[in-house]
Amino acid sequence: MSEAKRLAAEKALEYVQRDMIVGVGTGSTVAYFIDGLAKLPFPIKAAVSSSEQSTAQLKKHGIEVIELNHAGTLELYVDGADECDGNKNLIKGGGAALTREKIIAEASRQFVCIIDPSKQVPVLGTFPLPVEVIPMARSLVARQILERTGGQPVWRMGTTTDNGNQILDVHNLVITDPVALERELNQIPGVVCVGLFARRKADVVIVGGTPPQVL
Ligand code: 5RP
Repeated sequence: MSEAKRLAAEKALEYVQRDMIVGVGTGSTVAYFIDGLAKLPFPIKAAVSSSEQSTAQLKKHGIEVIELNHAGTLELYVDGADECDGNKNLIKGGGAALTREKIIAEASRQFVCIIDPSKQVPVLGTFPLPVEVIPMARSLVARQILERTGGQPVWRMGTTTDNGNQILDVHNLVITDPVALERELNQIPGVVCVGLFARRKADVVIVGGTPPQVL
């Protein structure tokens, strides 16, 4: 699948323009995109990064990383996903970077999602839904998720997010109404972010292949 990821990332480089401030996601597909940014024949102004991992890679290539607070609205955000349905709703957060990813997606005019074909699903939910929680609320949130959705939350032990929080991965969901579920889970005190990107979904999805598919 890494070739498909590389092909999707390469296609996304066509959306990058000279002197842009580019929003950059996290993960192995985005890693190809960052490598590609460094090889563009023109400079970008800077990047806004969604994780310490992407920041390190961007800086290694000499790309300036600035804070979102100093960037205003971004023209472009490029990120991967763990699942994508036919309406461009996404599950994200397999890499635990969902909160910063959602913030940057919200701040961007265009969200280009880059995936390999294995991420395409008819209905979201086979990939366990990541939910970032404040550590003291972890058990409360887990009980409420079970009660409200029937899904089985599992603590991703050993993972602390860049924001100092924890992750619950919710198994056995069949997400037929992603906007409603995102809204419902966002109501639970202690939930920092739900890895459903439905209210602000992708604008463009690029599926890696020869040739890449642009949806
Ligand atoms: C990180 C994410 C990633 O975009 C998602 O996990 C996909 O990763 P990869 O490109 O490695 O398959 O949401 O929080």
